Amino acid sequence: MRIDVVALFPQAVQVFCETSMIGRAAAAGLVEFGFWNLRDYAQDARRTVDDRPYGGGPGMVLMAGPLVAAIRAARARQPAARVAYLSPQGALLDHGAVMELSRRSGLILVAGRYEGIDERVVESEIDEEWSIGSYVLSGGEAAAAVVIDAVVRQLPGALGHEDSAREDSFVEGLLDCGHYTRPPVFEGRKVPEVLLSGDHGRIRRWRLMQSLGRTWLRRPDLLAGRKLTVEEETLLEEFKREYRGLRS
Ligand code: ADE
Repeated sequence: MRIDVVALFPQAVQVFCETSMIGRAAAAGLVEFGFWNLRDYAQDARRTVDDRPYGGGPGMVLMAGPLVAAIRAARARQPAARVAYLSPQGALLDHGAVMELSRRSGLILVAGRYEGIDERVVESEIDEEWSIGSYVLSGGEAAAAVVIDAVVRQLPGALGHEDSAREDSFVEGLLDCGHYTRPPVFEGRKVPEVLLSGDHGRIRRWRLMQSLGRTWLRRPDLLAGRKLTVEEETLLEEFKREYRGLRS
């Protein structure tokens, strides 16, 4: 997969992409990156990339000229890729969207700044628009890093352990259960006994029960859209009984 990033501060995303799991995936040839600095496509001696909004109001808007030139340079590198603009106005990115993006052969991510980008760029260059959440960042670079992390870890071979991505939160439409490592007792808190039992059937049921219970407590919206199996119903009832018992 190839991912190009068009931004005013691409180096912020670049450092992130050289680190840890993403850096290893790139070194292994699973993903390659291209970074395009808007400043390099400015069209005046002062390298201006932004200007005041027509109609007045606070903040600055990224100008069409440099942005279009940078996007077209990235597009020339991978003509088949769709151009995705990161903005709070985009469709909300979720696990399904990440999986779809991860199956593509390439992607061009455009990060905005300030009040946004000239709307004519959206009309002429942007194929899709994604938001990482219902809040406003001061720039799309952090959002681009989020998208890259979520997408790259889904590429086959990107994670050390093959099951890691499959067992993540949301994969089965549920939140992940809690995890524990050594020592078995930390400041008086014990690892749940079942995890030390070596009984894989019990461990699987306990983890599924924790996932169901957490989802019920923290994200009931996820359960509303899901038909539970008989086993899941039973485990969730058991979780609720224990939970209510603990609280009364
Ligand atoms: N740029 C600024 N805010 C953003 C958000 N919530 N998602 C994606 N890009 C953004």
